[in-house]
Amino acid sequence: MASIYVTTRDGVEHTLAAKPGMSVMEVIREAGIDELLALCGGCCSCATCHVYVDEADAGRAGTASADEADLLDSSDHNSPASRLSCQIAFTEALDGLRVTIAPED
Ligand code: FES
Repeated sequence: MASIYVTTRDGVEHTLAAKPGMSVMEVIREAGIDELLALCGGCCSCATCHVYVDEADAGRAGTASADEADLLDSSDHNSPASRLSCQIAFTEALDGLRVTIAPED
């Protein structure tokens, strides 16, 4: 089983089982981490699934679409590492991905 590593706002890193076909947001929510609100359910319209991708994983996590980048621009906590986790489709190629949940806006 593939996994991802997610650091929550308290600084604790969690190892979560991840399956291809899920988004990174779905992996985090299914693990019961509810500080990632994901209010729009993955429609790329709320930005409450904001995470920071570890620098070492920036290349394989891909880049934000124009719509995603627009939403991230609306966050006070936008950074070059920012992504909306609902827009990162998990694949085996992302096994071991590290992300940190961004502060709440
Ligand atoms: S869940 Fe709303 S933008 Fe990702």
